[in-house]
Amino acid sequence: MNKAKNVFLGKEIGIAITGGIAAYKSAEIVSCLHKQDARITVLMTRAAREFVSHLTFQTLSHNRVFTDLFANDYYFDPQHIALAERLNLLLIAPASANIIGKIASGIADDLVSTVVMSLNPSVVIIAPAMNEKMYLNAIVQKNITLLKKIGYHFIEPEKGKLVCGEGIGRLASFDRIIETLRKKLSRN
Ligand SMILES: Cc1cc2nc3c(=O)[nH]c(=O)nc-3n(C[C@H](O)[C@H](O)[C@H](O)COP(=O)(O)O)c2cc1C
Repeated sequence: MNKAKNVFLGKEIGIAITGGIAAYKSAEIVSCLHKQDARITVLMTRAAREFVSHLTFQTLSHNRVFTDLFANDYYFDPQHIALAERLNLLLIAPASANIIGKIASGIADDLVSTVVMSLNPSVVIIAPAMNEKMYLNAIVQKNITLLKKIGYHFIEPEKGKLVCGEGIGRLASFDRIIETLRKKLSRN
């Protein structure tokens, strides 16, 4: 990429990883953005850490990984506020049905959901990934519609082979995610 046009250079990008089988795919996103000289902060839910170790993301982002809302080693400010204040963008990928539901309901009961609640929806990009039955569930669809109306940006999942069967629900491709981030940062 031409350095003069590198919109990622020096940008503070948060990547929130939630508990889905596609969590491993976020490693490539983190690695790519770090190589583009963005400053990456990874946040992981407890469920996400069942799928991939925080060590993978710590190593690829060259930064500590944030997991605990009540960690008290982060200066004086509450860390969710400090994190939210310094981020240019937050990508949630993969976004579980659970985190989508929590955001839509205003629930802030862990670090990821509390940081999201501290951010303006316009800087949050949500890339859902789940089984087709979960994705097409009326409650999940209702939550997505509501969040879009409020101003959250979604990167729609794709159709294809899923862990259980085939259908819509695959995490958007790496290229689509990077391109969406690039466009969003260019506009901002
Ligand atoms: C093997 C396995 C795979 C899962 N894959 C997904 C998934 O792809 N998408 C999803 O929304 N939930 C998935 N779940 C369920 C979530 O992990 C669960 O709802 C969890 O509470 C999400 O928590 P979080 O949103 O705090 O990360 C999976 C669970 C298991 C055990």
